[in-house]
Amino acid sequence: MSVLKDAGHLFRFVGIFVVLFLIFLVVRGFVVPKTFGEYGHYRAAAIGEIAANPLHFAGHQACAECHADIVATKAAGAHAHVNCEACHGPLEGHVENPAAVVPVLPNTATLCVRCHEASAARPKGFPQVVAAEHANGVACETCHNPHSPAIGSGSNAGGAQ
Ligand code: HEC
Ligand code: HEC
Ligand code: HEC
Ligand code: HEC
Repeated sequence: MSVLKDAGHLFRFVGIFVVLFLIFLVVRGFVVPKTFGEYGHYRAAAIGEIAANPLHFAGHQACAECHADIVATKAAGAHAHVNCEACHGPLEGHVENPAAVVPVLPNTATLCVRCHEASAARPKGFPQVVAAEHANGVACETCHNPHSPAIGSGSNAGGAQ
């Protein structure tokens, strides 16, 4: 058996690998979370943890229950597809308890330009203005109803409705 005559170092080599593999298995047993792989290649308990996070956004439908007039005004105007909370911010707290959590009305000086300040990055057909020239310091809601912004649409002669 001259082929394996000097094979001792190979067995030691394999032995080291076996030992390292066993150490790997032990360490893996400690660091892999308990619920990993229960449903797939992720930690199953993460689902419950994420689901337990408090809600911030109530969703569009929630507003209709108490603000049906504004929902109707908005649905008929150019902002039909801009969600209430896109402008008013997350309002789950208000929906849960409207009297205790009264939303602060958005400041149109910063709100409207977020979407409408002229910029080469916006789609060409999107309505845009250079606010400083267009409004000249006059508040946007003086002329536009935020809930139905086209001039002359709805009863928008100044302010929201
Ligand atoms: C369960 C009824 C209810 C729901 C649902 C509700 N609101 Fe209200 N909301 C009220 C009431 C009542 C007030 C008036 C609170 C006050 O002035 O004391 C109010 C006030 C407001 C105001 C402030 C008005 C002002 O003059 O300051 C805004 C803005 C508003 N709601 C937006 C929303 C939006 C957006 C939603 C949906 C995410 C929503 N509300 C859902 C009942 C509701
Ligand atoms: C494009 C932005 C925008 C959207 C979308 C929007 N709002 Fe408003 N909303 C405003 C602004 C701005 C004001 C304050 C206007 C002012 O100061 O005269 C306001 C005022 C209000 C007020 C108090 C004044 C009023 O008119 O009675 C309520 C209540 C309200 N919004 C509810 C809603 C609800 C409900 C929706 C969704 C159906 C909604 N808003 C969608 C911008 C928006
Ligand atoms: C979250 C983004 C967003 C905000 C904030 C926003 N808008 Fe708009 N606005 C839109 C979209 C989307 C349209 C529809 C564009 C289209 O039809 O191509 C629109 C359309 C308009 C139009 C065109 C109406 C028409 O019929 O041509 C005006 C005017 C307008 N908005 C004014 C305002 C004013 C004033 C405010 C602040 C109270 C405001 N917008 C806030 C997204 C926004
Ligand atoms: C003094 C009244 C007045 C004020 C204040 C005003 N607008 Fe206008 N806006 C108009 C009129 C009138 C039109 C429609 C005429 C036109 O098409 O240019 C218009 C049109 C628009 C359009 C549509 C442009 C297009 O190409 O279709 C947008 C967007 C707009 N305004 C946004 C704003 C924003 C944002 C503010 C606040 C920074 C504001 N407006 C303040 C009177 C006003």
